[in-house]
Amino acid sequence: MRLALSVTLAATLVAAASLPASAQSAAQAAPAAEKTISPEGKWTTKDGDPTYKVEADGIVDWFTYSGFRRYHSECHVCHGPEGQGSTYAPALVDSLKTMSYADFARIVASGQQNVRFQNNSIMPALGDNKNVMCYLDDMYVYLKALSDNAIPRGKPKGRVDKTKPQNEFEAACLGG
Ligand code: HEC
Repeated sequence: MRLALSVTLAATLVAAASLPASAQSAAQAAPAAEKTISPEGKWTTKDGDPTYKVEADGIVDWFTYSGFRRYHSECHVCHGPEGQGSTYAPALVDSLKTMSYADFARIVASGQQNVRFQNNSIMPALGDNKNVMCYLDDMYVYLKALSDNAIPRGKPKGRVDKTKPQNEFEAACLGG
């Protein structure tokens, strides 16, 4: 992993060094892109965490839409509609105002007990559930979009189509 990273970094440095001077200064002048998109159609923050993308007309990226569906099949029963919380499970739209992606992923996979509430308050460990883990990023970006007030409550107005690479990832994840 570290090796792969440094090779990528080295390649980037070489590429930057070989740019003509004018292109280099243009690249330096431009602010770092806020979000980038992967071949799967997944948007990422400049820190490398998955994120949502909402177009001006309210159309969302595939993962945000998928997260809406998956959240309501896997988490809604305890955490309430649209992450609003219930009498015994916290409002995830509030949790995500401060919780990192890494902590979210860790808690969903490994569970959590008696942190938010006392008396046997249990978030089950869902790390073995493919219907959760194959869609972890989807649920995260959907909840994060709600948490940031980037989308209204309710079913998203529309979505970008699912990409072929994402179809392949999903089949491999669910089947593997
Ligand atoms: C059986 C009920 C149940 C289900 C299903 C469930 N949760 Fe939870 N979850 C809880 C409870 C209860 C807590 C609070 C645990 C505590 O007090 O530490 C919690 C806590 C969390 C937390 C930590 C929040 C915080 O602010 O500390 C996250 C993140 C979370 N759940 C995500 C999810 C996601 C995503 C799903 C669906 C894939 C899900 N949960 C499904 C009951 C559930």
